Amino acid sequence: MTGEITLVVRTRTDAAEGVVLLDLVRQEGGLLRPWAPGAHIDVVLPGGLGERQYSLCGDPAQQDVWRIGVLREDGGRGGSVHLHSLYEGDPVVVRGPANHFAFQPLPGREYLFVAGGIGITPIRAMVRAAEEAGAHWRLVYAGRSRGTMAFLDELLGDFGDRVDVFAGDEGARADVVALLGEAPDAVVYCCGPARLIEAVEAASGDRPRGHLHLERFEARALGAPVYDESFEVELLLSGITVTVPQERSILEVVEEAGVLALSSCRVGTCGTCEVPIVDGEVDHRDSVLSPEEQDDGVSMMICVSRAACPRITIEL
Ligand code: FES
Repeated sequence: MTGEITLVVRTRTDAAEGVVLLDLVRQEGGLLRPWAPGAHIDVVLPGGLGERQYSLCGDPAQQDVWRIGVLREDGGRGGSVHLHSLYEGDPVVVRGPANHFAFQPLPGREYLFVAGGIGITPIRAMVRAAEEAGAHWRLVYAGRSRGTMAFLDELLGDFGDRVDVFAGDEGARADVVALLGEAPDAVVYCCGPARLIEAVEAASGDRPRGHLHLERFEARALGAPVYDESFEVELLLSGITVTVPQERSILEVVEEAGVLALSSCRVGTCGTCEVPIVDGEVDHRDSVLSPEEQDDGVSMMICVSRAACPRITIEL
């Protein structure tokens, strides 16, 4: 991910109950880095609150503004509460954008978008891109109540019955198995809470390679490592080899060795620490790469993924 810049809040808008939209711009005006649907930025929070990832949910054609949607989580770690305290003119330090949920619509192709709650933020830009590309698409949008669902009126107004709404307080629950079964040829993009992601993943077992794309907010539950012993990691560019004990991550060990390694979430959800694999079997434990990408063995997230053998070589 690219270096830090400080932007300012140009506009703050209440988008739904507990959801605020922040439009971020350069204080002096001017263009920001381009982005495509599915991209996110890292927001670097003050006061030791760390970093959080937020999907860009505006219009990629508006190149002077990045829009993020933030759900207030009062029981969270404080990041969303801080962002909800911001108003016009307040500074926000960001990095990015990066994209591990990329969407390249093809005319005539069929897409099924599944969004749960604030998971609508990356999906909103995808829906519009699919529409512009002349693709066939349908959106399944689930939330606690209509009042908590950002962009709902806009999406219903613009696209009508191509949007299926499931509001929990109306007793409507999305039957994921049935919905996916009705679209066997569709390429599926899903973003939302863990239980929605898991349901979509479970219902997509025999979908062809490349037909399921997931973006998780939370790290997926991990089982025991494949190789439950310490292992060696040769760092090709640094010219050293480190030993990673069972209870530590590759990232921690390489940082301790004085090697510069980028990181952000450190739990396998953001993709910042991605490093190319040169040699060896890897136990992929991240929530970013698709199963196909993990099988390809091109890269790994060194904050959570480990060796599946006594020694691996990575490009670091
Ligand atoms: S630091 Fe976020 S995936 Fe590793």
